[in-house]
Amino acid sequence: MKIDINDFYTEEEWRKITEFAHGKDTPFLVVLLDVIKNKFEELKKNLPYAKIYYAVKANPAAEIITMLDELGACFDVASVYELRKLLSLNIRPENLSYGNTIKKTADIEEFYNAGVRLFATDSEMDLRNIALVAPGSKVLVRILAEGVLTADWPLSRKFGCQPDMALDLLVLAKKLGLEPYGVSFHVGSQQRDISAWDAAIAKTRYLYDSLNEEGITIKCINMGGGFPANYIEKTNSLEVYASEITRFLQEDFGDEMPEIIIEPGRSLVADAGVIVSEIILISRKSRTAMERWIFTDIGKFNGLMETLEESIKYPIYTEKNGIREKAILAGPTCDSVDTIYENYLYELPLNLASGDLLYWLSCGAYTASYSSVEFNGFPPLKSYYI
Ligand SMILES: Cc1ncc(COP(=O)(O)O)c(C=O)c1O
Repeated sequence: MKIDINDFYTEEEWRKITEFAHGKDTPFLVVLLDVIKNKFEELKKNLPYAKIYYAVKANPAAEIITMLDELGACFDVASVYELRKLLSLNIRPENLSYGNTIKKTADIEEFYNAGVRLFATDSEMDLRNIALVAPGSKVLVRILAEGVLTADWPLSRKFGCQPDMALDLLVLAKKLGLEPYGVSFHVGSQQRDISAWDAAIAKTRYLYDSLNEEGITIKCINMGGGFPANYIEKTNSLEVYASEITRFLQEDFGDEMPEIIIEPGRSLVADAGVIVSEIILISRKSRTAMERWIFTDIGKFNGLMETLEESIKYPIYTEKNGIREKAILAGPTCDSVDTIYENYLYELPLNLASGDLLYWLSCGAYTASYSSVEFNGFPPLKSYYI
């Protein structure tokens, strides 16, 4: 399949990327900051009532954090390491939320001492730790969300708890002197089925009513991330996601709508980035083998981690044209896990040769931050923000 670059970038954006790419040592990630800015504005326009906490883990580059801060974003933080980075960039602690439900007591304390007062949790042990070292803080209890089968990068059963347990935890939070602030969920990253939000919002409404009976009114729903990037598998537009989700919220909450938080990562930064890689080698495994193996200098260990189980299918563009044939794509390391796509076969030109560039589109999220430090001696992915 031939990628039409116009489906991904404007002429001006693509010119900027290719001019920047030529002559540089590959592989690297180049990110257009203006694209992120436009995505942020688009999200604000479509969900004007939602407070946006950028999920830093998607791409923790200082350039992105600083720009989003200037645009008025808050930040969803996963660890003390992200916290320290954000503080070093002068991000205000009141704009941060500690969104990871798995945390050491010492880490909770560091967040609290830094001035952070919003914590997510999904277990009694973690809740008691928060009460111990972050007294009086606001807590959001995360519920399990469905949608595992329809999200390209599901967050599965690892996070969240059943609504009945969430109820117990919010009641306990109050007893422990914390503020039972609200409910959070994440329907799975790159969630292609919008009804996943419908189910999660309905569960939240059930909890809202049950908590009211306990004398607790929750003030906030944190709907997490899950909004789409532009990959091979098409999705509805952000506008459709937003209008549907707004309808679900209105149907379930009407005039009682609590404060709404969202934590977009992928949908804000993915489309803005392109990984530029070079073909190292092309081979066939026998004289009669139908498929070529194309080995490139980018792979699972230096940026394409989300191709594990071929979950995320990045659009791949080459400047070469001509007859196309299916190919297996693999990375540069001495590890067979570092085969990128073997089941879903990309059709690429037969005249591709060693040294040709491959452009991996929509790669701004979960690539640079995932790349290993020194596997097989390869360095982490270089990134440029322009
Ligand atoms: C707590 C939390 N919030 C938000 C996100 C961002 O999700 P997405 O990249 O799908 O927008 C994640 C992703 O793992 C997460 O764990």
